[in-house]
Order: sequence, then structure tokens, then C-alpha cells
Amino acid sequence: MQSQLMNLLEEAREQLKNASTLAEAEELRVRLLGKKSKLTEILRSMGSLSPDERKALGQAANSVRAEIEGLLAERLAVLKEAQKELKFKAERIDVTEPGSPVKLGAKHPITVTIEEITKVFMSMGFTVTEGPEVEDVFHNFDALNAAPDHPARDMSDTFYIDEEKLLRTQTSTVQVHTLLNKKPPIKVIAPGRCFRCDTPDATHSPMFHQVEGLVVGEGITMADLKGTLDTFVKLMFGPEMKTKFRPHHFPFTEPSAEMDVSCFKCGGKGCRICKGSGWIEILGCGMVHPNVLAVGGLDTEKYTGFAFGMGVERIAMLKYGVDDIRLFYENDARFIEQFK
Ligand code: DAH
Repeated sequence: MQSQLMNLLEEAREQLKNASTLAEAEELRVRLLGKKSKLTEILRSMGSLSPDERKALGQAANSVRAEIEGLLAERLAVLKEAQKELKFKAERIDVTEPGSPVKLGAKHPITVTIEEITKVFMSMGFTVTEGPEVEDVFHNFDALNAAPDHPARDMSDTFYIDEEKLLRTQTSTVQVHTLLNKKPPIKVIAPGRCFRCDTPDATHSPMFHQVEGLVVGEGITMADLKGTLDTFVKLMFGPEMKTKFRPHHFPFTEPSAEMDVSCFKCGGKGCRICKGSGWIEILGCGMVHPNVLAVGGLDTEKYTGFAFGMGVERIAMLKYGVDDIRLFYENDARFIEQFK
């Protein structure tokens, strides 16, 4: 029996050495020390021995058990350590590894265009102001000298919320807010959304953007208007650009004009875009009507001013060669990304 015990120990040593996982070691514990193990079998068979033999064998069996338990604990410790090592390796982060690229969006071309226009005017000393999109008849029409029967007031042209409230049809409303709230010298631009009851097509959208400008002070003349807008065009589109002013009519300016710039596409030779004329209209402007200045309580003998308003979509379309205004509002990432 003693030699059986020695064999058992040898076998256990060998098997434990080969156990390569915690599960295997656990299995061995059951096989070597459990109820059905050879060791238990030997202990059970001791009944037939003499007391002396039993004592000797009992001691030997106990020390073999202790030895196996010790070996098992050692092996478990080694395997646990190895497993921890593996886990650490698997979890290790290589901080020098290049990250996966994040897909960045692009600024909307209308935003880009407003930012460019704003930057140019700011470089000329203008400040940026804003007004509400929901307005009233006073700010959108009355204070801007629109005749009571002016066609723009019509329900079919303007989105009315009720009798008094409406969605502004032009950023010129900000002229009124500015005149009511500020004293000259005034030199502001006001970018923002406008709304009109237009059926969408390639050049019309019921929502669009304008940038308004207002300059009021002593001794402001039409020459200031022309110089400012000509400088704007050259800074915005390039020094080779030419401008031309044509007489026009707006209720809130007198005299009024429209400004044309040399065609973006052909540079003035005449093409499909400029319909052969070599010129493209980009804004309305004029000397602020005394009736409008009077809204701000200004002495119209002392103060004069000029104003202008341009359509942002129109400028963006001409600049980037976009031939349908609706493309700006479809939120197609493939379209927007071209302006990155
Ligand atoms: N508000 C005009 C429009 O929507 C544009 C405009 C023309 C604005 C002349 C002005 C201006 O300030 O002086 O068509």
C-alpha cells in the first residue's frame, strides 16, 4: 500500500505539471482527492489492517494528501497568474496606435456664404445685428414706407400668423429695430431668414436668407453707398470684379438702385448664366427714405443714410454654380460635402 501511495504521488505530480488550464487543475483535484479517488479508496481499505499498520498507513496517506494539496495549490497559483497575464495582454491599449477617423460634417454653403459676407463687412467696420423672424405689419411694411395697398402686403405674398403678426418677408425689418434702438452713427449688417408665399422651383423657395445693411450718419451720400458696395464686391469675389448701379424702386429708399456685378461665369463677355449681358444683379440698395429715418425720430435735415439688401442663396448659387435653390434644403450630405 505504501508503494501504491508513492505511485499515486508521482502520478499526481506528473498530471499536475501537465495541467494547462484552471479547469483542468480543478478536474484533477476531484480525481486525486475526491470521494472516488484512489487515495480515498486506499483509506477505506485500511479497515482490514492491524492497528499499527493502520496508523503507519494513515500517516503516510495523510502526508501524501497534504503533498498533493500543496502541489495543487502551487499549480493553481501558476495558472491563475498566467491567466491574469493573458487578460492583461488582451486588454492592453496601444496609445500610439492611430485612431479610426471620425467622419466630420461640413458647414452648409449658406452658412459659409453668410460668414464670408459678414467677414468682409466687419473688415469695413460694420457690426452684426439680428432681428426676429416673427414680425408685425409695422416693422415689415408700415415703418418701411410701404403704401397701404402695396402688393407685397397681400396674403398671397406674405405668411400672416394673424392680422398683425407675420413671418418677415425681408431683413429690412432690422433697419426699423435698429433705428428705434440706436442713435447714429449706425453701421450694421443683419443676416437672417425670410419667408414668402412662393411655390418652390429652381429659383424660388418659401424660406431664404438675406443680408441687410444700414449706414446712418451726418453727411452720408450715394458716393458712400457706391464705394462701400463696390469694395464689398471686390473683397468678396475678387479685385477684377466690376459693379454697375441701375435705377430701381423700393418704398424705403429714395433714390433706389439695383447693383449688378460682372458675371461670375464669363467675367463679362456674355454667357448663358448672365443671359448674354455680362452682368448679374446681386442686390437692392438706396438712400434711406426720410420717412424711414423719421421712424427713429431722427432729424432728417441732419442725418442721411444708405441701405442695401442681398439674397444669400442667389449669391451662393452664382458663386458655386448651383443651378437649383432646392438643393440647399434637401440635406443631401453628398451635396453639402462639396463645400468642405
Ligand atoms: N428688402 C428688399 C427685398 O427684399 C431688398 C432691399 C432693397 C433692401 C433695397 C434694402 C434696400 O435695404 O435698400 O427685395
